[in-house]
Amino acid sequence: MALRIGVPKETAAGEKRVATVPDVVGKLVKLGFSVAVQSGAGDGANFADDTYRAAGAEVVGSAAELWAKADIVFKVRPPSAGEVALMREGGTLIGFVWPAQNPELMQQLAAKKATVLAVDCLPRQLSRAQKMDALTSMAGISGYRAVIEAANAFGRLFNGQVTAAGKIPPAQVFVAGAGVAGLAAIGTAANMGAIVRANDTRAEVADQVMSLGGEFVKVDYEEEGSGSGGYAKVMSEGFQAAQRAMYAQQARDADIIITTALIPGKPAPKLISAEMVKSMRPGSVIVDMAAEQGGNCELTVPGESVVRHGVTLVGYTDLASRLAKQASTLYASNLLRLTEDLCKTKDGVIDVNMEDDAIRGLTVIKDGAVTWPAPPLKLPAPPPKPSAAAPVPAAKKGHGHGAGEPMSAKSLAIVFVVGALLFAWVGLYAPASFLAHFTVFVLACFVGYMVIWNVTPALHTPLMSVTNAISSIIAIGALIQIAPPLAGGGADRPSAVILWLAVVALALTGINMFGGFAVTRRMLAMFRK
Ligand code: NAI
Repeated sequence: MALRIGVPKETAAGEKRVATVPDVVGKLVKLGFSVAVQSGAGDGANFADDTYRAAGAEVVGSAAELWAKADIVFKVRPPSAGEVALMREGGTLIGFVWPAQNPELMQQLAAKKATVLAVDCLPRQLSRAQKMDALTSMAGISGYRAVIEAANAFGRLFNGQVTAAGKIPPAQVFVAGAGVAGLAAIGTAANMGAIVRANDTRAEVADQVMSLGGEFVKVDYEEEGSGSGGYAKVMSEGFQAAQRAMYAQQARDADIIITTALIPGKPAPKLISAEMVKSMRPGSVIVDMAAEQGGNCELTVPGESVVRHGVTLVGYTDLASRLAKQASTLYASNLLRLTEDLCKTKDGVIDVNMEDDAIRGLTVIKDGAVTWPAPPLKLPAPPPKPSAAAPVPAAKKGHGHGAGEPMSAKSLAIVFVVGALLFAWVGLYAPASFLAHFTVFVLACFVGYMVIWNVTPALHTPLMSVTNAISSIIAIGALIQIAPPLAGGGADRPSAVILWLAVVALALTGINMFGGFAVTRRMLAMFRK
């Protein structure tokens, strides 16, 4: 029997988001579900009851009626104790749960024999799971909004200008922590014309910071900050001291500081001291995106915007909800992708398949049994980093096997001997003119092999568009073969076999050329705004 999905109005104070939007309702109905939405659930995000009705949802009057009717409840924030009391026994809940922070809620849900999928527990390392990654979509929106809040509290323009009335310097923005939210903030501030600098304990993000128009500021201390699952770890005392010195300097220079630094399961690292706030110019702004986890700045008041030492400290904990329409649309789309994975049969019934890595990670309670935390994922080991102590032997370098295992010297010698013997055999029996062409052919194959195999697989697509030059040589050769009969030449008319070979070569190379153009177009479109 087809299940009913219920979407209640969020009850947390000030929460404007809603767990599904009218566009997605139609798609859920197509998957075979019926959808019920509590009246007014979308009001904060500008989705009226009528738009849900028009999309095929039933609009119900009260929260009690909605929870009682729903087999599966879609929510944004973790449910309150009152909401859990309304939940149907054996029902399913999908939304943010934060099991580590909410042990009591976990007990209450387990007592209801519920099945709970916590979107905050998604194994984000799985590329297949990215489409359901609500943490990333909400962090991206929050990072953007943090810059807007900073611009709102800041008394100057972001971009530098030279006007008749004088010169305006660009705003200096410093971003602490370049995860998803930090990168979104860097991109937004740079687009608005500010000079952006950023720091993170994970050195690998330096390139990402630069690609978004920021400058990566390093801490003068050698220590890698990547912990398990690609997240940050707590750094050593020595590193923290060096980092404090660097942050003190940045605080003196910056007009705006946006902090996003978090370490999973730990309180947010304190990066901006009261002294640093004091050293900033009056009118400067700090937006502390880690406010909910205790804040990266000592003076942050979670949930509020306060002024200390002439600096505005924004500690809002509802940044995503402040862009409710956009946030709800992305969140609804994340939940839709998750529902598609749960209902591959498209018959309105879900299968919580604990063999599936993504679903296993998300499922924190299954039929009343707590299944959180999920066992760590078995991911393929990362490629070993080349260490300074063990340099790559020179003989193996650049020998043409970029993509696979390097060929041993013995097998290379065998290939050479067999090739030479084959060549000698052809030379003994074939006509002289054939031998000349054959030599060019063999050399061309060798050069082509060296060119392509020395390129890393990730670059094969751009390489394909470059091979247009090679394709055009083939096209000219084929055209020369086809041209005499078309031009009416009688004597040196090639045989039918050669003619057809030329036609086939032209067709294949045409696919390569036009495919190359198409790929190039798509790649360029990815970088266009
Ligand atoms: P987060 O919100 O947990 O932390 C924010 C940032 O703060 C991180 O970049 C972290 O390195 C940094 N940080 C922590 N302590 C710091 C300190 N003391 N000083 C300076 N910076 C500090 O992280 P978020 O944004 O949720 O994701 C972290 C990373 O996880 C991403 O950058 C990404 O590489 C990875 N991720 C991978 C995905 C995938 O593989 N599909 C999807 C989403 C995230």
